[in-house]
Amino acid sequence: MPVDLAQSLISAASLSTRHLDSVNERPVWQPVPEPDRAWLTGQDLPDAGRSIDQLLADIERYVLPFPMGNGHPAFFGWVNSAPSAAGVAVSALASALNPSCAGGDHAGALLERTVLRWLADLVGFPHVPGGGLLTSGASVATIVAMVAARQRATRRLGFDVREEGLFASPPLVVHMSGEGHSCLRKAVELAGIGNRQIHLIPVDEQFRMRPTDLRETISRDIAGGLTPMAIAGSAGTVNSGAIDDLDALADIAEEFGIWFHVDGAYGALGATATHQHPLLAGLARADTVVLDPHKWLGVPVDCGCVLLKEPAIARDAFSLVPAYLRDDDSGDLGWFSEYGPEQTRPFRALKVWATLANLGRQGVTALVDRTIALAQEFAGRISARNDMTLIGQSLSIVAFRYEPEGCDAAMIDRLNAALPVAIQRRGRTFITGTSLAGRPALRVCILHPDSDESHLDLLVSEIEAAGGALVQDQWMQDDGKSGS
Ligand SMILES: Cc1ncc(COP(=O)(O)O)c(C=O)c1O
Repeated sequence: MPVDLAQSLISAASLSTRHLDSVNERPVWQPVPEPDRAWLTGQDLPDAGRSIDQLLADIERYVLPFPMGNGHPAFFGWVNSAPSAAGVAVSALASALNPSCAGGDHAGALLERTVLRWLADLVGFPHVPGGGLLTSGASVATIVAMVAARQRATRRLGFDVREEGLFASPPLVVHMSGEGHSCLRKAVELAGIGNRQIHLIPVDEQFRMRPTDLRETISRDIAGGLTPMAIAGSAGTVNSGAIDDLDALADIAEEFGIWFHVDGAYGALGATATHQHPLLAGLARADTVVLDPHKWLGVPVDCGCVLLKEPAIARDAFSLVPAYLRDDDSGDLGWFSEYGPEQTRPFRALKVWATLANLGRQGVTALVDRTIALAQEFAGRISARNDMTLIGQSLSIVAFRYEPEGCDAAMIDRLNAALPVAIQRRGRTFITGTSLAGRPALRVCILHPDSDESHLDLLVSEIEAAGGALVQDQWMQDDGKSGS
C-alpha cells in the first residue's frame, strides 16, 4: 500500500495533539471493554495492506481511548510520567533517521555523548569521556552496573569471569536494603550471583539503609569467606522516595574496597532541586549511578541511563572487540555496544536532548521543585487529618494509609490493599499501593508538570468516596473471606 508520508505525518501529528490536548476531558484510566479488548488482542494479520488513514482511524477508535493514564495530571501511580512535548515532537525524526546507535560516526551516536555529559552534570556525577550509556530503562542500566561490578570483583580475585564463568569464584555477595528496587535483584540473578547472595540490610524508620548494620554485615561476610561485590544504595526508593545516607555508604564501600552502586532511577534528578536533599550529595562518590530520563524528566519511554565512573571496567565486561583491535590508550571510546548488552540501539539521545534543551537547567529545576513542593503540601494535608496516617514523604513521593474511624487493624489493611484499584476504576485519579513495614500502604508519586492543588483535592475526595464505599462493603466486614 503506497504511503503519502507527508500527509500521514500531518494526520498523525494532529491526532497526537488532539489526544494530548483533551487529556483532562477523559477518564484518567478506564477498563478496556470486551469488544475493544478482543480487537486489541485478537486481530488477524490482514492479507492486503491497509492505508495509513485507515490505521489512524483504528488508533483513534481502539488505542487512544485506553491509555495507561500517565499523561493525566491526576495520575499519581508508580513512577510513570507524562511525555515531554519536545520528546513527542522529535520522536518521529529519530524514526526518520533510524540509525543504530551501537556506535559509528553519525549524529545519533555523537549526540549521545552530549546528553550523557548533561545528565551527569545535572545530578552532580563527575563525568569522564565514555562515562555512561543510554539504555531501555533502569533495569537494563542496572544489569550494566552489576556486570561491571562483577568484572572488577573477579579481576581482583585473579580470574576472567567471561572465560571461566563463576565456577572459579568464591561466593560473591551484594548488599542492599529490602527497599531496593526489584531490578537490582533481577540484575544480580542475571549476573549469576544468586538471590541467596543478596544480603538485605535493615532500614531505619525512614526506610533508609542502616550504615552500622551494613558495616557489621560486611565484616561478618568477609570473616565468613564471602567476597562483597557491590553495595547498592537507593537515591529515591520506589515505595517512599527514601534516600539512603549515600555518603555513609560510600565511606563503607571505600573502606572495604567494594563497588558502590546508586539506584537513582527515580530520585537522582532530585539533585537538581533548589534546596537539594543533603543525602543526595554522596551520589557523586558512586562507581555507577542509574537514572531514568523516562521518569521525572518526562522523556518518552523508553530511556534509562547508567553513568560510569570508570568506563574501562564496563568495556572490559562487555566488549567483544578483541583488545588488539582496540586502541584504549588513544582515547578512542569505541562503540556504545562495547559497554552494555545491546547491539542495535535506538536513537534515544534525540528525545533526551530535545527535552533537556527545551527545559534548560532552570526548567528542570522548576519541574523538580514544583513536584516536590506539591508532595510536601500533600504530606501536610495528610498529617492534619485524623483518618490518614503519613508514613513518609521524600522527594515527590508520599506514602500513607487511610484509617477511617471504626476500622480495626485488619480492616485497615484490607481497605488500603483494595483502595488503589477501587480508585483507579472510578477514573478520576490514579494511585497505586505498596507494602511498607509489612503492611499495605498507599503512595502517590507526583511527576506531572500540570498537577496542582486541585488534583490533590480530588485525590483526597476520591479516597474518601472509594474508601467509604469499601467500608460499607460486606467483604470488608467479614474478614475478606467472601472474596467479592
Ligand atoms: C527506584 C527505581 N529503580 C528502578 C526502577 C526500574 O526502572 P525501569 O522500569 O526503567 O527499568 C524503578 C521503576 O519504577 C524505580 O522506581
